[in-house]
Amino acid sequence: MDKKDSFIIEGLNGEKTLKGEISIGGAKNAILPLMASAVLFEDEVAFSNVPEIDDVERMSELLIDLGIKIETKSPKIKISANKIKSTELDYEISKRLRASVILTGPILARMGKISFPHPGGCVIGPRPIDVFLEGFKKMGAEISEKEKLYEIEALSGKLVGTKIFFKLQSVTATETFMMAGVLAKGKTVLENCAIEPEVTCLAEFLISCGAKIKGVGTTTLEIEGGELLKADGKVFENIPDRIEAGSFLILGALSADNLLIKDCKPSDLAIVIEILRDSGVPIETGKDFIQIKNNGKISNEKFKSFDLRTHEYPGFPTDLQAPMAVFLTQTTGEGIVFETIFEGRLNYAEDLKRMGADIAVWNPQKMLVKGPTSLRGKDLEGPDLRAGLAFIISATVAEGQSTIRNVHYIDRGYGQIEKRLKEIGLNIKRVQN
Ligand code: EPZ
Repeated sequence: MDKKDSFIIEGLNGEKTLKGEISIGGAKNAILPLMASAVLFEDEVAFSNVPEIDDVERMSELLIDLGIKIETKSPKIKISANKIKSTELDYEISKRLRASVILTGPILARMGKISFPHPGGCVIGPRPIDVFLEGFKKMGAEISEKEKLYEIEALSGKLVGTKIFFKLQSVTATETFMMAGVLAKGKTVLENCAIEPEVTCLAEFLISCGAKIKGVGTTTLEIEGGELLKADGKVFENIPDRIEAGSFLILGALSADNLLIKDCKPSDLAIVIEILRDSGVPIETGKDFIQIKNNGKISNEKFKSFDLRTHEYPGFPTDLQAPMAVFLTQTTGEGIVFETIFEGRLNYAEDLKRMGADIAVWNPQKMLVKGPTSLRGKDLEGPDLRAGLAFIISATVAEGQSTIRNVHYIDRGYGQIEKRLKEIGLNIKRVQN
């Protein structure tokens, strides 16, 4: 989508008139490592339930630039990496896609070298890659930094399996080294791994194609290195996006009477459902759906406030911190929001205050939200993908019209969002500036 697009939203002024059904797309943070894992295969891999989002297009461009063949027939994608013609990640694309760092593991493990730019911090924090660099050194690679490029080479031509204790539970570092271990010489033991559903999804896919990975779903993974994997024509289904499901659940809690969120996996967002239920939101769940029922007559001030602390899975996901802070502006009481994962993920609070929220930001990771406060529509600029979604929620609750600029952030992670929101009754339109 175009960089300058904006959304215009007519607020519901606290009314709960949204209703109907909204379908959840495939997980952005699962499909990106799945696509990168194609490098570990001698034959074609195929995935279904692929979301139509910009980050998938960026990852596709990165892979094509390496000489890898991609065939996209939404919602399916086929990737053939039997020939890789380069080990240099495209500078411009990698700078725009933090998840490009996931490719370093499989490329280095298969080709013995890789060069890439620092994946770049973004507004939510500096996002260093020290855990990656330390891990590759332990696997027998040498790292040189030239201008703003990293060049990494396996000294013996091949990565060597070893034991790595991650100094923090990093989602993409866990995925990167799980994949590096699949082709490394000997056994790799990873400790203090992240256990997000997206990590488990990647491991299950690799195991289904013959990878020897033990400890899936725990913080210790043991990987036996071997030859290139074979998918043998299987199509692997990507998991639903728990962050998208949680975003629409929060939107529905504040602005919907009856809303069915389908094609999702409620068990992946248990803590979000638990917290909203505790606050008073009427939620029912099934195997693949979440339903908000008879919510229209419950005014938001009947919902109780709570303290919110983001935490690695299965704790509260940092990617839903901003949307949940909007929920807190409408509940009765006060709640401390403590963002423990990233250093700069409260930037959106200033714009919420301009809308009328009562927020005291104590430091870059902690703020106090008092509610309920009524919100007025404003001209907003989402600093990142998830804050952009939070502004869609605050604009929906607010009185009057809001403009949300640079919706290209939102397009990175939420496919056809205005179409799906229109279908449940939101007055939202995309404007090309
Ligand atoms: C993944 O990012 C997700 N992205 C993020 O989603 C998500 O917010 C994050 O995990 C936490 O759940 C993808 O999966 C593509 P981390 P990741 O490494 O892996 C620090 C979204 O909106 N760190 O778990 O990059 C880091 O700075 C995105 O979809 C180091 O210090 O996050 C952060 O403070 C945003 N050194 C913390 O660890 C390193 O080498 C956790 O980051 C690596 C990370």
